[in-house]
Amino acid sequence: MEDLTLPKFLKVKDKASGKEMYCPININQRKFKSALKYKAEDTDVFVCSYPKTGTTWLMNIVWLILHDGTEVPGPYRESIPMLEFDGSEAPESIRNREFPCIIKTHFPYKFVQINPKAKYLYITRNPKDAFVSFYFHIRGCGKKYGTENPDINKLYDQYMKGEVQFDCYFDHLNEWYSHRNDSNVLFLLYEDMKQDPRNGILKVAKFLGEKYEELLMKENGKLMEKVLELSSFEHMKSRTIWEYPKRPANEPFIRKGVIGDWKNHLSAEQADGLDRALMEHGKESGISKLWDKYAEFL
Ligand code: A3P
Repeated sequence: MEDLTLPKFLKVKDKASGKEMYCPININQRKFKSALKYKAEDTDVFVCSYPKTGTTWLMNIVWLILHDGTEVPGPYRESIPMLEFDGSEAPESIRNREFPCIIKTHFPYKFVQINPKAKYLYITRNPKDAFVSFYFHIRGCGKKYGTENPDINKLYDQYMKGEVQFDCYFDHLNEWYSHRNDSNVLFLLYEDMKQDPRNGILKVAKFLGEKYEELLMKENGKLMEKVLELSSFEHMKSRTIWEYPKRPANEPFIRKGVIGDWKNHLSAEQADGLDRALMEHGKESGISKLWDKYAEFL
């Protein structure tokens, strides 16, 4: 009998490049494969991440800075395409020479055709909160993952094996982390953004270009205040444009937005398992130390 609590993912393989990855079961494979070939324009700005690590938040901040505080119209994917789901033609269809094109992607680094002149912002979040957020994401997206009632224990096993969409959290992080010092990459922590959003926004503006830093800080930081307000958790939660349209009202996409919610949902063994996996995957690369300063929450 079919297990109605087991989230399902589909392994998609692109024969031409040999690249393969777990995806949601309703993925448009043609678009996915075309995305692998997307050649970025020099002015493109990519918001990159593993799922549930603060992508939407960062994307909103980038948009607000580049558009002088004017909000993203909804639904957001008509303005900020998601490369792997919307395909390579999506950025072309919205390209506006007045503003750089913002592209969201959860692709691992090796799946992205890097243009040295384009900009790539990568955000990450401690794996325990990222996993819990992912569990609630699946609850909210119901049939897209073949279950409306996922079992957190089964999902945990899949997550640890990397048998979930976008594969293994730790490999994804390791790969992007190894490029953190590239001049076209800005590497950010969700927890740093939470602790000091003002500084996070400033870092993003600086990375986008001197012009944006100046705009942000002119007239006593008027734009900075606006970006802070319009990217706050409360404000973002009040807008429905980020939601998967069929999401039940009690499973909001902008859900809790805190550091340490894992304590309410993971067993001690699960928390320990994620900590150990971070240690093991981070021994050489150093990702195991990324959250040392947040030990009180994690
Ligand atoms: P939680 O489920 O822990 O609340 P992504 O955009 O990568 O899918 O990440 C979603 C997570 O980011 C969710 O975490 C969501 O609530 C959180 N988030 C979204 N906007 C935020 C904001 N303005 N401030 C803090 N967290 C935010």
